[in-house]
Amino acid sequence: MTTRAVIRGVGHYLPQRVVENDEFTATLDTSDEWIRSRSGIERRHFAAEDETTSDLAAHAARAALSDAGLTPDDIDAVIVATSTADLTFPSAATMVQAQLGMTRGFAFDMQAVCAGFVFALANANGLILSGQADRILVIGAETFSRIMDWTDRGTCVLFGDGAGAIVLERGEGGGTTADRGILSSDLNSDGRFRDILYVDGGVSTQTTGHLRMQGKEVFRHAVEKLAETAHRSLDKAGLTPDDVTWVVPHQANLRIIKATAQKMDVDMDHVVVTVQDHGNTSAASIPLALSVASARGQIKSGDLVVVEAIGGGLAWGSVVFRR
Ligand code: UT7
Repeated sequence: MTTRAVIRGVGHYLPQRVVENDEFTATLDTSDEWIRSRSGIERRHFAAEDETTSDLAAHAARAALSDAGLTPDDIDAVIVATSTADLTFPSAATMVQAQLGMTRGFAFDMQAVCAGFVFALANANGLILSGQADRILVIGAETFSRIMDWTDRGTCVLFGDGAGAIVLERGEGGGTTADRGILSSDLNSDGRFRDILYVDGGVSTQTTGHLRMQGKEVFRHAVEKLAETAHRSLDKAGLTPDDVTWVVPHQANLRIIKATAQKMDVDMDHVVVTVQDHGNTSAASIPLALSVASARGQIKSGDLVVVEAIGGGLAWGSVVFRR
């Protein structure tokens, strides 16, 4: 028998306030037409003033627990992938742990920007395979609205807030690609590209800072690196694009999603798209899309899924699992 980390439940949470593209035209030289055609985004959610990343994460966690039919007492660890934690410390994950009423286990944050959930999922898999935890809440949660420069039309129309969560659980399989659970992963980063996507502030500079992006450069890297990492993960598992039921890509830009699918040799009928409704929610985008796709009845038990993401660092990667 082979130990496998299997997804037992999924859930998500979106803040109540929905901001349509047209709202930006009051303060910026932009248009619904430009935002839609260049990014595929139609609307996004913004957190309320008193709503923090850990609040969003805790809502998503409760939804995932409910979907799994579990309680917080069943959970051994909480990992929150985020670049927008409530405070410098403690971690958003320990805040979620407290909000859920957990009195045992361990919790920590994972920071790989938009690739954060993919990094968290690969690491949670490692914790389960090495016997350190049997059930882990893996959450992606962000309030990117707090780091937008509202005068920069090239970035502020692209991002949104939200959270998605999964419950990952120890299971067993026969050691083949027919097993449910995580089958392979591929993680990468290259710090030489820090200047094309970053926040110009932080603890050491005593500021919060704003997101800065050279969109065209990031776009170029994204298409090339996402297709590469997806192929590498499939190769590692001994699978091909023909085996893929669903690709769940990081939801940054519909043009990137389409170009990557084409490079991967996967038809768009097999790609989950939510960017039109959420914008780019960074580390939350993949678990949000996984949860929405499950609710839509797209992803079903037994489906072979590839998740892939890229973000600041640059950091990028992918995970292949059978639902
Ligand atoms: O999650 C992390 C990863 N992030 C991404 O994957 C984002 C990657 N990049 C992108 O998604 C795209 O590059 C953008 C959507 C950011 C931009 O699309 P683009 O086709 O690369 O446009 P561009 O940056 O080359 O800008 C084209 C024009 C420029 O005007 P000029 O110089 O041609 O006169 C921009 O100033 O569009 C202008 N522009 C806008 N116009 C109206 C930029 N932002 C806007 C805007 N409204 N909001």
